[in-house]
Amino acid sequence: MSLVSPTAAIAWRRALEAWAIPETILEKAPESPWGFPVELFARRAEHAATRSTPSNARALEALPVSGSVLDVGCGAGAASMPLTVRAKALVGVDPSPAMLEAFLSQAGAAGVDVEVVEGTWPDASARTPSADVVVCHHVLYNVAPLPAFVRALTEHGRRRVILELTAEHPLSVDNDLWLRFHGLRRPTGPTADDVVAVLREAGVQPEREAWVSESVAGFSRREDLVAWIRRRLCLPPERDPEVDEALSGRIVEREGGFGFPPRDVVTLWWDRSKTEGTVPYAAHDR
Ligand SMILES: C[S@@+](CC[C@H](N)C(=O)[O-])C[C@H]1O[C@@H](n2cnc3c(N)ncnc32)[C@H](O)[C@@H]1O
Repeated sequence: MSLVSPTAAIAWRRALEAWAIPETILEKAPESPWGFPVELFARRAEHAATRSTPSNARALEALPVSGSVLDVGCGAGAASMPLTVRAKALVGVDPSPAMLEAFLSQAGAAGVDVEVVEGTWPDASARTPSADVVVCHHVLYNVAPLPAFVRALTEHGRRRVILELTAEHPLSVDNDLWLRFHGLRRPTGPTADDVVAVLREAGVQPEREAWVSESVAGFSRREDLVAWIRRRLCLPPERDPEVDEALSGRIVEREGGFGFPPRDVVTLWWDRSKTEGTVPYAAHDR
């Protein structure tokens, strides 16, 4: 049991809490600013299936032929679909039924055995089977109880766990827009370095590779991308033209779709064999 006070874990939780939107802004928002568009993540999964990335390479080197992959926070499966060149079975966990439907459809097209678990990790972990490799891409900045989340990932991976995340909080790209439309200064942290600090505190020593990810042109219509950002800013639809104008320098049109410029990401991974015997956060697991 770790006797060290989990200061990195507490700092992580506090840094995420600082992203709460002030009630005065939230109560005027005509639609929820949270949530992920399924269209964007379905395109991400389709695009990912054709790409080789450091995250995919690390997963494939640990994955046995006809092995199994657990994808936590799967969305439409951008983390696991590229692994179907070797995997025979996929399990996807996500709280969103629409995402799970998209995941099932992608896995069906890839011709692998597939199972989905609707729920939030780590609560859903007790009803989720283990796999050879566990992947979890672009989920951690949604997760306040990071130690418990990571421990359940480790427990479910027979060989390796691979995380992918942006180097900085993904919503920090909107910070200048919050200042412009609401006069509100948003946080900048936490960052991938803070994830590493939480992992180390939990007894996991991850390997790490930093790289630049081409972001997917995930919207077939520019106006849908603009509306998504406008919703994130808690603004009504009539503000779309102003948001479009504010975004004009950073929307990228590519492959018949619209998206954002490339961004810095980090792949973190660790092998189960190297964590055996550690009991991360037994006493502080919140
Ligand atoms: C940014 S998307 C990433 C989806 C996919 N991994 C990818 O890289 O395209 C985050 C996904 O994580 C899911 N999610 C958020 N918090 C979660 C949690 N605690 N447990 C499981 N899934 C979660 C969301 O519903 C969403 O589908």
